Amino acid sequence: MAKVIGILSGKGGVGKTTLVSNLAASLTKNFNKNVLVFDTNINTSHLGLHLGMYEDLPVTLREVLRRKTSIMHAVYTHPNTGIRLVPAPLSGDGINLTKEKCCRLVNQLKNSYDMVILDCPPGLGKETIVAISAIDEAIIITTPDIPAVTDALKTVEILNRIGKKTLGIVVNRSRNEKYELQPQEISSTCKCDVIATIPEDRKILRSISKGMPAVLLYPHSPASNSVKKLAAKLLGKSYKEPSFFDKLKRLLGRNEEGDTKIVIKEQEQAVSKEAEIRDVKKLKEGLTKEVKEELKREIVEMVKKKLKEKVV
Ligand SMILES: Nc1ncnc2c1ncn2[C@@H]1O[C@H](COP(=O)(O)OP(=O)(O)OP(=O)(O)O)[C@@H](O)[C@H]1O
Ligand SMILES: [Mg+2]
Repeated sequence: MAKVIGILSGKGGVGKTTLVSNLAASLTKNFNKNVLVFDTNINTSHLGLHLGMYEDLPVTLREVLRRKTSIMHAVYTHPNTGIRLVPAPLSGDGINLTKEKCCRLVNQLKNSYDMVILDCPPGLGKETIVAISAIDEAIIITTPDIPAVTDALKTVEILNRIGKKTLGIVVNRSRNEKYELQPQEISSTCKCDVIATIPEDRKILRSISKGMPAVLLYPHSPASNSVKKLAAKLLGKSYKEPSFFDKLKRLLGRNEEGDTKIVIKEQEQAVSKEAEIRDVKKLKEGLTKEVKEELKREIVEMVKKKLKEKVV
């Protein structure tokens, strides 16, 4: 039975979704695991966007929660990695994910995977408690600054109170600056081990703009190496850091993006053959007009909102 791991932070915007998509990509691509990622961030869902899967998602948790279809129909295969995704809708208006529903949906799926990773909502309110109710273990992510670490500490306390195991803290966007909190300070403040430090890395931003995890697109970038190391640690495996000569060989040899393009093409060919892709197509064809219209309205609203934000 799969372990259900929640990625939590307390403070928003510190890298939960980035970690979910990259950790899942590494577990899938580097360690051959069958991983499902589940977006419980109903009101500000981003996981589908990080994976570049915003156009192709006719069924999300919205349709499942409205009992229009079963959770099995809301599982998609990410074409380039093989990660399975349960997306939340672009707008969470009018839907309610309760503890009971969240646990039931996760339980219905988890037996088919080696690992289920929940992208949790920001904050420590009701929505986060709902997500926590469905997990077995948690990883807390924080940036190395006082506000984020304060909220990480609150998250550790909530998890302890509820009786959920915390696997450790991931420190993200580390720049190795003197003003940053050091991993040992974060660890002693939160009374929890720091299990990974991910550096600030522009390749993360580039990879999100391309809708592809950095671990796949820039497998040798500093952030990708840290995520791979974390994936190995979670599986109890060793990870060999690239040596100076490995880096030199790469510099003199092939271009990183060039290599990746070949991998992606091979993956696309392999995955496109999968039955699930055909199922999704079938499902799309069979979708009711009503759901399609709703999806269109949602996208139009989102674009309008974005344009408004730009003008302001
Ligand atoms: N290691 C990193 N280096 C550079 N940028 C990063 C790194 N990690 C995350 N980011 C950037 O930080 C921003 C927030 O990341 P992300 O969306 O993963 O945070 P989040 O915790 O999921 O946010 P929310 O609380 O809104 O769900 C994104 O623009 C992402 O590109
Ligand atoms: Mg997020």
